[in-house]
Amino acid sequence: MPKRLLSQPRRKPSGRHAVPGDKSISHRALLIAAAAGGETVIENFLDGSDCRATANALRALGVGIEFVDTTRVRVSGDGKFTAPKDVLDLGNSGTGLRLLAGLLAGRDVTATLTGDASLRSRPMRRVAQPLSRMGASIETSPRGTAPLVVRGKSVLRGIDYAMPVASAQVKSAILLAGLAAKEAVIVHEPAVTRDHTERMLAAFGAKVHREANLVRLERGATLATPERIDVPGDLSSAAFLFAAAAMNPGASVTVAGVGVNPTRAGFLDLLARMGAKVSLENPREISGEPLADVTVTGGTLAGIEISGAEVALAIDEIPVLLAVAAVAEGETVVRGAGELRVKESDRLAAMADGLSKLGIRNALREDGIGVFGGEPQPGTIDSRGDHRIAMSFAILGQRARGPVDILDCDTIETSFPGFAALMQQAGLDITEFQA
Ligand code: S3P
Repeated sequence: MPKRLLSQPRRKPSGRHAVPGDKSISHRALLIAAAAGGETVIENFLDGSDCRATANALRALGVGIEFVDTTRVRVSGDGKFTAPKDVLDLGNSGTGLRLLAGLLAGRDVTATLTGDASLRSRPMRRVAQPLSRMGASIETSPRGTAPLVVRGKSVLRGIDYAMPVASAQVKSAILLAGLAAKEAVIVHEPAVTRDHTERMLAAFGAKVHREANLVRLERGATLATPERIDVPGDLSSAAFLFAAAAMNPGASVTVAGVGVNPTRAGFLDLLARMGAKVSLENPREISGEPLADVTVTGGTLAGIEISGAEVALAIDEIPVLLAVAAVAEGETVVRGAGELRVKESDRLAAMADGLSKLGIRNALREDGIGVFGGEPQPGTIDSRGDHRIAMSFAILGQRARGPVDILDCDTIETSFPGFAALMQQAGLDITEFQA
């Protein structure tokens, strides 16, 4: 029976908390450690179903994956992959599927990669095309979706590729394939996206150069496995606590040890621009990634305009930002956000529908949305099986005039196991039920 969330208004968040490990970085740690060979331990690994699906796929490819405990994983092997006996099921995870396709493109194996109904509806030609140009054979369904049949080659061509969409997953797939390229790999991004792959490859000793919208991986990268990789707390999960604080003047929440990579932390800038107070303490770096203890204090919020370049730096936080916009003064306008339509759900449509259900006026556009702040009413929301939509409405429910009931919440496990419990620990009234 699917889970549902009940968000009962009136509580303000408080306290100092930690969130589970970063999803994007956990995936990359697994994949790059597997490619490098040797033995490495990943600490603060995200114990969510997306990352577990990637771990299982690697196991099926002959990589040693041992869960020492739920958040500590030992990856071991000789850096080679063996042909899997079965189809590789990446579940709900676009990152798992696209990055693994890139890695396998440069290996002498054939594998079929698939996922759940949501993942099988998402566009895959965006990775199939550049990887084919590099010399691998990648077949999609006639609709350009998974299942993907990857027939890799141990030596690929280099590529100088201008990505038509700003996507860290596409960029990362090309870079991972580039480990097998006999020439340099150059990727131009239409807008800067998260650079976790570049940082992780550099932490493994590869030569990666970044300059504004351009990334270059030198040919002949040899990877040297570090003994240990530490994963920062996931800013995309902390974002829900930060949003809850931002929406309540005077409320304040700290998340310790959260990743603040500037290609990822756009949400904090947007919250500050709306009128919340954001402060970073104890900045440090682990395994090539910046992290800090971040405190957000609520204030009187006003609507803002958000450009496509800003969307790319806060791509997964736009739903919860729209929840914040629902209680801000005036209109928030998001532009250049067409990519949100091809996430785990059509997130622009899902947010527009849900906001309308709660009486929040909004204007949906092809590549964006305008949200007019108001007083959210109680109601029932269909999350469309999308974790970030479900959690965003749970947060908005804290500021509604009555309970907000959110349906179809099972996928919260993909990115934020223990979400409801952590929200309760922070003082919010969000409960999970078996519907
Ligand atoms: C991710 C990149 C983004 C993001 C996703 C994780 C990554 O997707 O939405 O949740 O780990 O590289 P796109 O690259 O498709 O924009």
